[in-house]
Amino acid sequence: MGSVIIGSGKSLPKRVVTNDELGQIVDTTDEWIVPRTGIHTRRIAVEETATDLGAEAALRALGAQADGWQRDGAIDPASLDMIVCPTLTPDTHFPSEAARIRERIGAVNAVCYDMSCACSGCVYGLSTADLMLAGAAAARAQAAATGAPMRCNDVRRVLVVAAERLSKLVDWEDRATCILFGDGAGAVVLEWRDEGDAGILSSYMENSDDTERTLWCDSAFTARTVPFDAEQGLPEADAACDPYMRMAGQAVFKFATAAMVRCTEEALARAQLSVDDVALFAPHQANERIIRYAAKKMDLPLERFQIIIDHVGNVSGASALIALNEALCEGKLKQGDVACMTAFGGGLTAGSCVFRI
Ligand code: COA
Repeated sequence: MGSVIIGSGKSLPKRVVTNDELGQIVDTTDEWIVPRTGIHTRRIAVEETATDLGAEAALRALGAQADGWQRDGAIDPASLDMIVCPTLTPDTHFPSEAARIRERIGAVNAVCYDMSCACSGCVYGLSTADLMLAGAAAARAQAAATGAPMRCNDVRRVLVVAAERLSKLVDWEDRATCILFGDGAGAVVLEWRDEGDAGILSSYMENSDDTERTLWCDSAFTARTVPFDAEQGLPEADAACDPYMRMAGQAVFKFATAAMVRCTEEALARAQLSVDDVALFAPHQANERIIRYAAKKMDLPLERFQIIIDHVGNVSGASALIALNEALCEGKLKQGDVACMTAFGGGLTAGSCVFRI
């Protein structure tokens, strides 16, 4: 019984950007970037919108487009009850990115919303979708037992699709950040099943206050004041607003390495499993050194981690969903295997999710 992954997809923009190309716009080199981050190339959306990327990842997860992974065959978009889109870079403030993807894929029965939880979006997306599915299953049982109507939406299938164009938030003159990020999308379809032992086994989410502004991006709206304060007068539009993401690299590194280990251990404890039960870890990919550090701390060989940062960079909430998709498509995860997804990011957010394929 549980929320079973029945589809998985990814989408990456066409344009590959090498470290040498970045060296032409900021003072950096391939020799500096590779050993410190593990990144060789990333994809940057020149032609694609977040909706293009999200819709392609979703269609691949549904089996409506080639190169996706399905557990039991193609999934009808009209059978989706909900679309959850973790994103920092929706194409429009509203409609939500989830609603835009709904329209593109023909998910005519889905209710949609976006989530802002930075790079933890994959884990927060899966965890909250699982809570929705489990809550709806309990409500169905209650309605059947009492003869009363369902007290909430009947949610049986959820699409979690993280779609990011982080290149819009990157300061392309800041070598400390612009080397790290890329664009792309990852998607998963979850279905509630009353039978079987596949599905999400446990989840853990946490937030801590980012009092030191270690990971930050002002929105275009933060600096705007309303013109109703007589003393203040009309605002200087957006004068103080920094539109780019900012990061205290070493502080984030410290937070990330600790969060990776803490959240993985907490989620595994909730599933009453140990790291030895996990066939593959599909972590958020911010820096290969963070993954290496976590692997060492948990006494695990690096081969148990799906590493994709070399060719995609950090794609925020989409990273681990892309990693999961590549692992499934490469046949590294089979039915019955246990996998673990752990992520951390701005907020500060962090979390982990354990599931059986
Ligand atoms: N190319 C060349 N030199 C660079 C550079 C670049 N792209 N970026 C920074 N440097 C320089 C710095 O200016 C500094 O020079 P100085 O010693 O002359 O002052 C030197 O390299 C070391 O900088 P530092 O920031 O200490 O490097 P680092 O080893 O901590 O690596 C990061 C920087 C960003 C790669 C690393 O801190 C990191 O990955 N942090 C976590 C980031 C992250 O995970 N973000 C997303 C979370 S979801």
